[in-house]
Amino acid sequence: MTTASSADHPTRRDFLFVATGAFAAVGGAAALWPFISQMNPDASTIAAGAPIEVDLSPVAEGQDIKVFWRGKPIYISHRTKKQIDEARAVNVASLPDPQSDEARVKSGHEQWLVVIGICTHLGCIPIAHEGNYDGFFCPCHGSQYDSSGRIRQGPAPANLPVPPYQFVSDTKIQIG
Ligand code: FES
Repeated sequence: MTTASSADHPTRRDFLFVATGAFAAVGGAAALWPFISQMNPDASTIAAGAPIEVDLSPVAEGQDIKVFWRGKPIYISHRTKKQIDEARAVNVASLPDPQSDEARVKSGHEQWLVVIGICTHLGCIPIAHEGNYDGFFCPCHGSQYDSSGRIRQGPAPANLPVPPYQFVSDTKIQIG
């Protein structure tokens, strides 16, 4: 169930919030965002670190969603072919934190990028689909990450971390 008014007209700013059980603890602002229900443990169990499952089927190509795991924002990007191609065309040796795109996604599911959405500089929350690399832009001090979540510009020293996760079906992942 998605109520994203922008779902029919994807834009660069498309960014759905996906509510997990843990999200209830985040605050009243949640009501303003599209809500996708998840079959997950209750909030206290998730806060304690239980794995969560996320259904990816409502996420259109070019869109991003945010879920919470262990109190951290997790960004899940349904990447376009252009984004994947751009991420793979980069000379890995030239990167501040060299890592191939292949090493940051699951083989056979290259369209899905899953990263912890906390800037590796001082911990701000980057914005998806912003910046010069069609990835993530951190407004605090200008760090820019590419469509693989790798740091490309600005003071952040490292790539956005990839949390432990696995595909439990073609359209569902388990994080944690
Ligand atoms: S916290 Fe992101 S650039 Fe400083």
